[in-house]
Amino acid sequence: MASMRTPISETSFLVQNWSDHSQNSLIFSQNLSFSRHGFRCLQFGIVKLPFSRSNAVKNSSQTQSSTEIESTQISDVPLLSSTEVIERLRTSRETYKSKQQYLAMFSSVFGGITTDPAIMVIPLDDHMVHRGHGVFDTAAIMDGYLYELDQHLDRFLRSATMAKIKPPFDRESTRRILIQTVSASKCIKGSLRYWLSAGPGDFQLSPSRCHQSALYAIVIQDQSPSDHIGIKVVTSSVPIKPPQFAVMKSVNYLPNVLSKMEAEESDAYAAIWLDDDGFIAEGPNMNVAFVTKEKELVMPSFDKILSGCTAKRVLVLAEGLVRDGKLQGIKVRDVTVEEGKEADEMMLIGSGVLVRPVVQWDDKVIGNGKEGPVTLALLNLILEEMKSGPTTANDLTASIDISVLQERLTNMINLGAAHTRD
Ligand SMILES: Cc1ncc(COP(=O)(O)O)c(C=O)c1O
Repeated sequence: MASMRTPISETSFLVQNWSDHSQNSLIFSQNLSFSRHGFRCLQFGIVKLPFSRSNAVKNSSQTQSSTEIESTQISDVPLLSSTEVIERLRTSRETYKSKQQYLAMFSSVFGGITTDPAIMVIPLDDHMVHRGHGVFDTAAIMDGYLYELDQHLDRFLRSATMAKIKPPFDRESTRRILIQTVSASKCIKGSLRYWLSAGPGDFQLSPSRCHQSALYAIVIQDQSPSDHIGIKVVTSSVPIKPPQFAVMKSVNYLPNVLSKMEAEESDAYAAIWLDDDGFIAEGPNMNVAFVTKEKELVMPSFDKILSGCTAKRVLVLAEGLVRDGKLQGIKVRDVTVEEGKEADEMMLIGSGVLVRPVVQWDDKVIGNGKEGPVTLALLNLILEEMKSGPTTANDLTASIDISVLQERLTNMINLGAAHTRD
């Protein structure tokens, strides 16, 4: 696998290594004359395929004999058995162990769940892979609970409708599959990510030949504690997606990725998008909100951006801070850049960041440059709620071990909408 990442020009020396542990592979050494497999390069960019003697189209100006070239340029690419592919997938995973571990995956293509990360793969001819025709969503796993699963699932299915993908399962079955995938993973803290795709079929632009839409889900363990340290943001120069695409959570996240990279290039955490009228919109995977000098919580409306499940929950939890006198009011409305930069507090809100204080936007220090008290209070409220589990099923919040977790998840299936707090 590692050798596949090596430039072709450098691969020939690897032949020996490959043959050492791949007895079944067909490997071509430079000492052998060209044989049935592999490919060869002719001059002027023409590739003659080895399975036929006369199948290469020759450029009329090409004078050098192909036999001459064959002797110097041959293939080092092995033809692998399926067992070898799986072996190599496993080895390849081991070479880049990350902080995140993939504990379980469901695929409607397999029709089940696997806990072997090496085979957590999807078909290349899936319309989501080669045309970006897919939608996705997430849900945090905290102390064995899937936080706001139903809200995320609703948005997931709305996104699928907007992307004209007819899910392979109804809502209840999809929900049950997602919960069972988490149950099989035994994950206590991490995240569940899931995708609906037009499915595998062919490589055409139209999905009309896609055999069957597909559902994929993966459970990712993440033990890192939530961070409350204030961060810096910049204004994104990458154009925001038009509203039709920004309101759905499709897999077309290239602008989001470029925007995040732009932020990282400036040692910032995220780049903030402005909408076409110059109002504050959102970050690449989070919403934004502010606490004004008048102690009002203001948040841009969701008509042209993604309707964040966490942001919506923050709006509800903030009502408690109004009751306590820490906030004077809550408004969802247009927010100008000037107002945002002059605010006492700025925060990023999303399933990944939860509620994260912003202490600098471009060159402007926000408030007194420290993490704002309202922001930290909202973060604590979210964390408490995530840990406490469904308010309608408090008996499920006993201290956790694996058997309790399994039981909780089973109960979640049975409770259905009981997990919904709104
Ligand atoms: C573009 C965008 N905006 C906002 C959010 C925040 O949404 P949520 O709170 O549901 O995670 C996300 C999250 O993925 C996002 O991708």
